[in-house]
Amino acid sequence: MIIVQMSDLHCTSGPSFLREKLTTAMNEINRLNPDLVVIAGDLTDMGFKTEFEEAKRFIDQIKCPRKIVTMGNHDSLYTGYIHYESLFGPPSGTFENQKYRVIYVNTARPDKDEGRVGRDQIQFIKENFTKGKFNILVMHHHLIPVPDTGLEAAMVEDAGDVLKLLSKLSPDLVLSGHRHRPWLWKLNDINFLFSGAISTMRLRGFFENSYNVIKIENGKIEPRLKVVGGSFTDFPKLT
Ligand SMILES: [Fe+2]
Ligand SMILES: [Fe+2]
Repeated sequence: MIIVQMSDLHCTSGPSFLREKLTTAMNEINRLNPDLVVIAGDLTDMGFKTEFEEAKRFIDQIKCPRKIVTMGNHDSLYTGYIHYESLFGPPSGTFENQKYRVIYVNTARPDKDEGRVGRDQIQFIKENFTKGKFNILVMHHHLIPVPDTGLEAAMVEDAGDVLKLLSKLSPDLVLSGHRHRPWLWKLNDINFLFSGAISTMRLRGFFENSYNVIKIENGKIEPRLKVVGGSFTDFPKLT
């Protein structure tokens, strides 16, 4: 099984949005023939309708049996969550097939940089986790600080409560974006994988646009970083 994890498209009319990079990435992703593509938020820069429409044009080009999209803090600026829902549907939910189960939660709150899972969604994660399945949890904001990102800011406000639950549930993968810096933390045998930004100039610590490609074979999880228009790198080499 191949999962592509991408985030932080930051579609906008200004020069910070790298349209050609996103076009290149979409073609690369289609060539990978993924089973699942996770788009972990910040589709837009300011939550404007035209930005969402542009993001949708790109996301619609991805050929894949299943795409999971969730909302980022930038998507909820200027009541962008209204456009988000009309174009992409609910920003939280679950999806299951024979191979895996995905639980995705909305951590974005209107006009706030910080994320929050919240008590209702903590309960939602608990209720929807399926023992014996390959469980994937998706949220935009980071639950654990990511290195080389400057001042630590805007993480999940209730990260402690969520991490306590996850240490009991032991999901196979926790996929986030938001920091524009790819990283992998392995904590209590859980893979917390962070995607870099796929198509904005605003990068931190690792100065290439990128996304993650996760290969799962016989229960073995092999996450690799793909530079847009460039090569694959193993995560340990980033440290
Ligand atoms: Fe972002
Ligand atoms: Fe973000």
